Amino acid sequence: MIREATIGDKIPILKFCKNTFSWGDYIEQVWDFWLSEGNLFVFEKQFPVGICHAFYFKDQIWIEGIRIDPEHRRQKIASKLVMHAEIVGKEKNASFSYMLIDIQNSSSLKMAHSLDYEIFQTWNFFSLLPKHNLNHKIQFEKSLNLKRYSHYVKSWRWLPLDDSTLSKFYDDKKIIKSTNLENDSIAILVDSEHFTKTLIVTLFSGSENSVLQLISFLQNYAMEKKYERIQILTKEYLPTFDTLEHKISFYLMKKCLV
Ligand SMILES: CC(C)(COP(=O)(O)OP(=O)(O)OC[C@H]1O[C@@H](n2cnc3c(N)ncnc32)[C@H](O)[C@@H]1OP(=O)(O)O)[C@@H](O)C(=O)NCCC(=O)NCCS
Repeated sequence: MIREATIGDKIPILKFCKNTFSWGDYIEQVWDFWLSEGNLFVFEKQFPVGICHAFYFKDQIWIEGIRIDPEHRRQKIASKLVMHAEIVGKEKNASFSYMLIDIQNSSSLKMAHSLDYEIFQTWNFFSLLPKHNLNHKIQFEKSLNLKRYSHYVKSWRWLPLDDSTLSKFYDDKKIIKSTNLENDSIAILVDSEHFTKTLIVTLFSGSENSVLQLISFLQNYAMEKKYERIQILTKEYLPTFDTLEHKISFYLMKKCLV
């Protein structure tokens, strides 16, 4: 009943992944990428009725894109897909499984709770438009404390930071810092792999002043590097600023598998 997706699944599956949310859906944009990555699981009756993609990284499973055809919901299909992704993960020695759920998506939250996922953290998604702005003072960070900054966002996956990832970020000047007395704000800059000209920023805000310095820098940096949009993911709620707009808040759900 559960198998790997094939090229032929794209059309029937996208038929029920178009108007999933009030703003539409993103499965069409990521389908080819996920198919080539593998672990794109399809639940099939006589035809595909559900999907879920899993990304395995170190001791972590990232579960994304759970979609069940509205005609086939409440039959434990999503639950079976998630459990399948976990079984595959355990074979790869995964210790933790994560997924991101809109705080207003009560059906998905109930499904996740029923599978023993717990709210680990709350994250806010803000959008910001590129613009010339020279009113900022930042430094490039070269020694981040891994105890304080455990994850960063890459293509909407919360991935663990480790020393080798960090040293690449330091070399590429992808971690910026603004210092304000004792409270630094930090931002990690990553290109989106699925959406062109999109800068994804994991932001850790230490104080209002320092975070505004970073946001001003990001606006200007994105303008100079010709990005079209900036997506900021942060645990904190950000101050009012120019085109900065709060879009959605998410729960980062976590399950311990061991
Ligand atoms: C959320 C979604 C994936 C659930 O799929 P599903 O196959 O219907 O879920 P399951 O049958 O495995 O549900 C398991 C449990 O979750 C809870 N649940 C699921 N949908 C629910 C709903 N609409 N209302 C209340 N509880 C719900 C129930 O506790 C359910 O067990 P029960 O039916 O025995 O009461 C599906 O509704 C969907 O595709 N929604 C749109 C896309 C989406 O939100 N994806 C998740 C993004 S993180």
